[in-house]
Amino acid sequence: MDLLSSIKKNAIAHSKRIVLPEGTEERTLKAADLVLEEQIAKITLLGDPNKILEMAKNFGLKNIDKALIINPLDHPKKNEYIDLMVELRKSKGLTKADATKLIEDPLYLGTVMIKNNDADGEVAGARNATGDVLRPAFQFVKTLPGITVVSGAFIMIMKDKEFGNDGIMVFADCAVHPNPTDKELAEIAVATAKTTKAIAGFEPRIAMLSFSTKGSAKHEMVDKVVNATRMAKEMNPSLKIDGELQVDAAIVEAVGKSKAPGSEIAGKANVLIFPTLEAGNIAYKLVQRLAHAEAIGPILQGMAAPINDLSRGCSVSDIVNLIAITVNQAAMTK
Ligand code: ACO
Repeated sequence: MDLLSSIKKNAIAHSKRIVLPEGTEERTLKAADLVLEEQIAKITLLGDPNKILEMAKNFGLKNIDKALIINPLDHPKKNEYIDLMVELRKSKGLTKADATKLIEDPLYLGTVMIKNNDADGEVAGARNATGDVLRPAFQFVKTLPGITVVSGAFIMIMKDKEFGNDGIMVFADCAVHPNPTDKELAEIAVATAKTTKAIAGFEPRIAMLSFSTKGSAKHEMVDKVVNATRMAKEMNPSLKIDGELQVDAAIVEAVGKSKAPGSEIAGKANVLIFPTLEAGNIAYKLVQRLAHAEAIGPILQGMAAPINDLSRGCSVSDIVNLIAITVNQAAMTK
């Protein structure tokens, strides 16, 4: 069974509640219909119920009546949620009047539903920009205990089976945190190891990437990666991790042997941790385009409950896949 099929099969077994704030967005609604048909998740759609039902009828969708449809202007728990928001953000000066406005924004409502245990995860971003999806999540769902930074991983499925785990690798951070400190980079490595096991389904062998291998260059950017590697080992002593490594030393056996002799990771890495978001974002898009790899993600990691952000160019099947991944993450965090 291929990776996506097994992710969907696991999702069906977990039966989690996923909220879709962009309930009146065409691809989202079509994806919700497929997810309900295949029982990948229980779906809550946020949006004007009349509009959602009319769109479903026009598109010939047969399963939308199985979704819970909530109008963000008129949620039965609106007052309870407003109090919760004020309580959670009182140190930031959030007033009742602010919260009353924010709760009518489906992107805020979705995250507050999760915080109140009325949903297990969220998928959004077909219509909204990354920052607008993430900000409410950072403010109300926040990070897992021991993690301070959210990051985004991609599962890269290559046609060429030579690299990684039979052609599959995990890259991070490719989506969220522009310039991590050494400690944040260590957290990203630890979080990506968990994502790799839980979603990609294999044991991570992590390379902490740099433009230097084992002291070949001296620079503060190299020091950051060396420190992050040490900190990640301290955070999780059982991690199989090495750095700093250049990417050829990380993934090509012969180069790994000559540049980093004795390393159990060099030449065999299946997880690549990039020193900055620039490097990670550029690298995943290059591999996707030049090597025609399938890029699954970004899978956001480190959040206390899973919230995933779609690309605005996403397809219906991208949304279905990300919902299935979100269900798997929800099963992992509960
Ligand atoms: N992890 C956890 N919390 C975070 C993170 C993070 N990575 N970044 C910000 N926060 C928190 C802050 O601590 C703050 O919390 P507080 O209000 O409780 O104090 C809150 O979020 C807002 O922080 P700001 O610094 O004001 O965050 P801002 O909204 O300016 O930026 C954002 C956050 C939008 C994620 C920003 O880092 C960003 O734009 N990142 C790049 C996203 C992007 O464009 N990616 C590339 C496209 S995606 C793709 O190609 C697949």
